[in-house]
Amino acid sequence: MTTSPDFIHRFVPGTVDGATPLLLLHGTGGDENDLLGLGQALSPGAPLLSPRGKVLEGAMPRFFRRLAEGVFDEEDVKRRADELADFIASASAEYGIAAPIAVGYSNGANIAAAILMRRPQVLAGAVLLRAMTPLHDVVPAPIAGTRVLMVNGAMDPIIPLRDARDLKGLLDAAGADVTHEVLQTGHGLTQNDLDLAKRWLARH
Ligand code: MLT
Repeated sequence: MTTSPDFIHRFVPGTVDGATPLLLLHGTGGDENDLLGLGQALSPGAPLLSPRGKVLEGAMPRFFRRLAEGVFDEEDVKRRADELADFIASASAEYGIAAPIAVGYSNGANIAAAILMRRPQVLAGAVLLRAMTPLHDVVPAPIAGTRVLMVNGAMDPIIPLRDARDLKGLLDAAGADVTHEVLQTGHGLTQNDLDLAKRWLARH
């Protein structure tokens, strides 16, 4: 049984047969329109599913609550990750698409990492751009063979590299096939991020 998708979202149907759908997850203050151009650039013609985070921090949409920058309300992370996983499953059925690869930036990468830890079966893989560990008291579900690309910035003031490496360790331990790239940059995305993600997706 599927329930109707209940996130504000955009869906762009695919135009290339067999292209793996992308689930686009924006950063803090973004919305469902933000990453459509990125998705089209990363995998031209792939179906794109792009929800808006339901949590508001002031006027800024996010995918879960945080107590301070880099300090998450982990009970909310769990609840929101499960709710988004339900949406991914129901929207995939409703639009007739296969399980998507998540492409998340910052807060969107963190909720994608939480879904990988709790409900990995709704995703076919993940590109985590500037992710950190979203949950500390959870042993990730086994995800043997799930491909994950993490790209972090060595000078990122928001995401300590040590924390990103902890996340890689958790995903490795769960059996994921994780590629971790560290760029000499900060929190913002660069052309190098896009080139790495595009090459990685082309090998999927
Ligand atoms: C988060 O809150 O998910 C991270 O601190 C990154 C951010 O969105 O600023």
